[in-house]
Amino acid sequence: MTHVRINNLTKAYSGVDAPAVADLDLDIPSGRLIALLGPSGCGKTTTLKMIAGLIRPTAGDITFDGDSIVRIPPEKRGAVMVFQNYLLFPYMSVGQNVGFGLKMAGVDPKTIDQRVKEMLNLVRLPDISDRRPKQLSGGQQQRVALARALITKPRVLLLDEPLSNLDAHLRDEMRELILSVQRDLGITTIFVTHDQEEAVLLADRIAMIFDGRLQQFASPDVFYRHPASERIARFLGGVNFLPGKRQGDTVETDVGSFRFAPGGEDERPPEDGLLTIRPEQIVLGQPTAENTVQGRVVSRIFVGTYTRYRLALGSHQIEAVRSADVAGDFAEGQDVPIGFPADRVWMVRPDQAA
Ligand SMILES: Nc1ncnc2c1ncn2[C@@H]1O[C@H](COP(=O)(O)OP(=O)(O)O)[C@@H](O)[C@H]1O
Ligand SMILES: [Mg+2]
Repeated sequence: MTHVRINNLTKAYSGVDAPAVADLDLDIPSGRLIALLGPSGCGKTTTLKMIAGLIRPTAGDITFDGDSIVRIPPEKRGAVMVFQNYLLFPYMSVGQNVGFGLKMAGVDPKTIDQRVKEMLNLVRLPDISDRRPKQLSGGQQQRVALARALITKPRVLLLDEPLSNLDAHLRDEMRELILSVQRDLGITTIFVTHDQEEAVLLADRIAMIFDGRLQQFASPDVFYRHPASERIARFLGGVNFLPGKRQGDTVETDVGSFRFAPGGEDERPPEDGLLTIRPEQIVLGQPTAENTVQGRVVSRIFVGTYTRYRLALGSHQIEAVRSADVAGDFAEGQDVPIGFPADRVWMVRPDQAA
């Protein structure tokens, strides 16, 4: 297991003004799976390639267990990268693809055969060793690529959007496979994705990146409860933002004041910012509860398992989602008590200040 540290890592491609990756700091404990999450073009692949040794950083350092690896050639780093489009060797059989790294390292054929078998079992593809990549489905090719990456027992596994070319059900299957292999081997893994749901389902911690810069590095739970900025909250599906001023653990807005639960030590909500709460956390129709204000239903959409309400609150509009399991329904135009549970309310800095 390998402890990975990334210190002030920067990549400026020549001829491009803004750096693709700027001053990135990440501390990834041994054996963890972290996700690099961010929109297309934010520098995720560039970061992985610097760790793999495929491109050279402009500045900064990467260490594995405390030793800098930036001057070590890629094949000696023990970091392997699995690409979005698999990149299997088309003229080699599956077995030859998987065994390639060991063959290059001069391992004897018998041992290679044995290890190839183990790896194909690990990715749940026994018995396809003799096939060619083009005879496999996309999901199978991705699993072969994973087996090929893991056969050399790397210290660090780098996965660049490995699920993005797969259909929905194959994606679920592959995601579970990645999780179980990662847990079995205990290999430190960096998983790149632009899909927040994928990051939440897989990662111990998520590094949110915009424009090459780290915005927040926290557990999925913290991202949902305590996003650091409006932009992060919106990226994670947040839609409710009310301007407010904070005093201690209370936010004053023009529709009322709301208490909220303080976050951890390193989470400092701004004093002047936006109150935010996720639609599914809002409680409707309980007039006596704490943090409750009166609003009005503007519109409602029944979506089967839940109803989505648009609500007028003073001069603002917010959205709330109510599970179909909860009794009671509210009609358009109806006045309704709107509750913001204190442990679900948070303050973020607005985009302009980001
Ligand atoms: N070889 C390159 N030369 C110049 N600019 C590049 C090169 N590769 C990537 N970029 C730019 O760097 C930024 C980050 O790219 P990339 O790391 O591929 O982002 P992501 O993987 O998050 O989509 C983008 O603006 C991209 O256009
Ligand atoms: Mg990319």
